Amino acid sequence: MRVLVAGGAGYIGSVVTAALLAAGHDVTVLDDLSTGHADAVPAGATLARVALHDSAPVLAEVRPEAVLHFAARSLVGVSQQRPHEYWDTNVGGSLALLEAMRAVGCRRIVFSSTAATYGEPESVPIREEAPTRPTNTYGASKLAVDHMLTSYAVAHGFAAVSLRYFNVAGAAFGLGERHATETHLIPLALQVAAGERESLTVFGRDYPTPDGTCIRDYVHVQDLADAHLLALPAPAEGEHRIYNLGNGTGFSVQEVVDAAREVTGHALPTVDGGRRAGDPAQLVASSARIRSDLGWMPRHTDLVGIVRDAWALVDPAAAHRS
Ligand code: UFG
Repeated sequence: MRVLVAGGAGYIGSVVTAALLAAGHDVTVLDDLSTGHADAVPAGATLARVALHDSAPVLAEVRPEAVLHFAARSLVGVSQQRPHEYWDTNVGGSLALLEAMRAVGCRRIVFSSTAATYGEPESVPIREEAPTRPTNTYGASKLAVDHMLTSYAVAHGFAAVSLRYFNVAGAAFGLGERHATETHLIPLALQVAAGERESLTVFGRDYPTPDGTCIRDYVHVQDLADAHLLALPAPAEGEHRIYNLGNGTGFSVQEVVDAAREVTGHALPTVDGGRRAGDPAQLVASSARIRSDLGWMPRHTDLVGIVRDAWALVDPAAAHRS
C-alpha cells in the first residue's frame, strides 16, 4: 500500500515506518523535524520536511491510500503552560491533514491517541468505554482529534482507528527514544546509568499502591508497531474504531528502577521528590478489545526485556554482554 506517515521522524513513528517498509509498503514520511530526527527516518522511506498545516501539496503529490498520524506535541507539562501550541499543532494540524486527505480522496487513517484521554480512572484496567475526562491540554487535544475522526467517518466515509497508547517503551529496528527534553521514566533512568545525570527523582512514594509509587502499563514499541499493521486495513469506510494499547500489566516506578539496575548493573541512585502534578496513581489498560477484534498479542511483555532493549541502544556494548 502507498502510505503517508505523519511524524515518521519521531520515536514511535520511525519504528512503525520501519515495520511498514519491512511489510512491503511504500512509505513517505511527513515531518517538520521540530522534535523528530532526519536520521531516524528509515532508509527506504522518502522524507518531506513539512508541517501538518502545510501538508496538502505533499498529499496531492503522493496520493496515499492510507495515512498513519503520529505527528504531535506530547509533553503533558508544557501543554499546561503553553496550551495554544497544543491546540494549534495537535488539533489545527490534524484538521489540516484530514482536509488534505479529503481533497485527494484518501480516507483510511490510523491515529496515535493516548491513555491521557481518560484522565484519572474510576477503575483499572481501563476499558475503551471508560469516561474520557482528560486532566491536561495534551490529553484534551488528542481527545478532540478522536472526536474529529468520528465525525469524518460519519460524514465523509473515513475508515479510522484511534490507538490509545499507554506507556510506550523499548526499542526496535535500531530506533529508540531520543528526545531533546526527556521526561519519561525509562530513558531518564538509563541516562543515569550512562553517566549523563547523577540521579533519578522518584515522583512520590505516598500513592495508594503496594510500594507507594505510581503504576503504569509499559508496552514495547515493537508490539505497538504490530498493532498498527493490524489496525491499518481493519475498519470499513464510515467506521471509527478505538483501541487501547497496553500490556494489561502494571509496573511501579520502583519496579522500573529495579529493572534498570538489573539490566545496567548500575547502582542508579534515586532521590525522593514530591508528587508530579496530574499523575494518576495507576494507569493500566484493558486491551481485550484489540486482542479479540484484531488478534493482537503483545510478545514483549517482560519489563526487564523492555528496559534491556532500550539500554542496548544507549550502550550498544551492553547488547553483546547480555
Ligand atoms: N516518573 C518519576 N521520575 C521521573 C519521571 C517519571 O518518578 O523522572 C514517574 C511518573 O511520575 C510516572 C511514571 O514515572 O508515575 C511514568 O512517567 P512517564 O513520564 O514516563 O510517563 P507518563 O505515565 O506520565 O506519561 C505517559 C505518556 C504520555 C501520556 C500518558 C498517559 O508518556 O504521553 O502516559 O497518561 F499522556
